[in-house]
Amino acid sequence: MRPLVIGATGQLGNEFVRYFNNKGITPICTTSSGRSNFHNLDITDLRSVLEFINETKPTVVINCSAYNLVDKAEEDWQTAFSVNGLGVRNLAIACQEHKIPLVHYSTDYVFDGTKKEPYTIADKENPLSKYGQSKILGEQFLKSLHNRYILIRVSWVFGKSEYSTNFIKKFLSWAERGEVRVSIDEISAPTYTKDIVNVTIKLLETGAFGFYHLSNEGECSRFEYAKFIADTLKLKVKLYEAHQEDFNLPAKRPKYSKLSNFGIHQTIGFEVMHWKEAVLEYLKEEGML
Ligand SMILES: NC(=O)c1ccc[n+]([C@@H]2O[C@H](COP(=O)([O-])OP(=O)(O)OC[C@H]3O[C@@H](n4cnc5c(N)ncnc54)[C@H](OP(=O)(O)O)[C@@H]3O)[C@@H](O)[C@H]2O)c1
Repeated sequence: MRPLVIGATGQLGNEFVRYFNNKGITPICTTSSGRSNFHNLDITDLRSVLEFINETKPTVVINCSAYNLVDKAEEDWQTAFSVNGLGVRNLAIACQEHKIPLVHYSTDYVFDGTKKEPYTIADKENPLSKYGQSKILGEQFLKSLHNRYILIRVSWVFGKSEYSTNFIKKFLSWAERGEVRVSIDEISAPTYTKDIVNVTIKLLETGAFGFYHLSNEGECSRFEYAKFIADTLKLKVKLYEAHQEDFNLPAKRPKYSKLSNFGIHQTIGFEVMHWKEAVLEYLKEEGML
């Protein structure tokens, strides 16, 4: 196996790098900002992508890169559309040309959040934000340009990364102020990068190409998520219930976007951890427990 991990400095990319290193495999790693000693590759540049894949000849490409700045994307939508849309198109063209399987990830923000039960892979998308639209573009390019892809939608991703942030890290910094308002009307489930990696590897080993949803079991509001972290770490912080509208953020988020794991267990028999168990494992990994 000669994997190419695109976006290796991110949360998910870093998890893949650690997974492969533990297996004695040295992945080819890229980033676009020169923030590490990985190869430099901007996926929005088709010529560079074609040259890089041609030169490095990976056996599988795992695209962990993305423009994830949900609020900034409302204004800077061209960058979001370029990275999350055209960038995926470029990878799909290059991988299809060299007959290399391509793994890619999308988001629960492709939905409008009006459902009252978990979203399945059969549900219709209706994004509320430019970020959601940009991720749909990537999905469409992937599906139309490549025939051996694995596409997994995930929600509220958290995992170890020196360079990236996540809700847990953000909440811990807000908590230093002593009081935090967190929304009760945003409900989904966190997804641990370890589970994403394990599921992806099993799907690849099984040759089960196609389209999946993955999130940790159970569901919670942002408030319940924050409270679980605060209680577990015995933080001295007062939590106040709030609503999305209170924050006046540029991008609208779905009020409910839990992703159903239908398809994962049926295909590879994988039991996804409850989100609380996953968060505890992450906090231990980060040395906080
Ligand atoms: N984070 C979440 O809460 C969340 C929720 C739902 C879905 N997802 C999806 O899950 C996947 C993994 O997310 P993550 O949280 O691990 O992402 P992340 O931590 O934000 O990392 C993104 C990576 O993409 C790289 N990148 C950005 N622009 C690039 C470009 N033009 N060319 C090449 N690389 C570029 C970044 O590195 P440089 O800036 O150094 O290039 C970084 O390594 C993504 O598809 C994301 O959309 C994430």
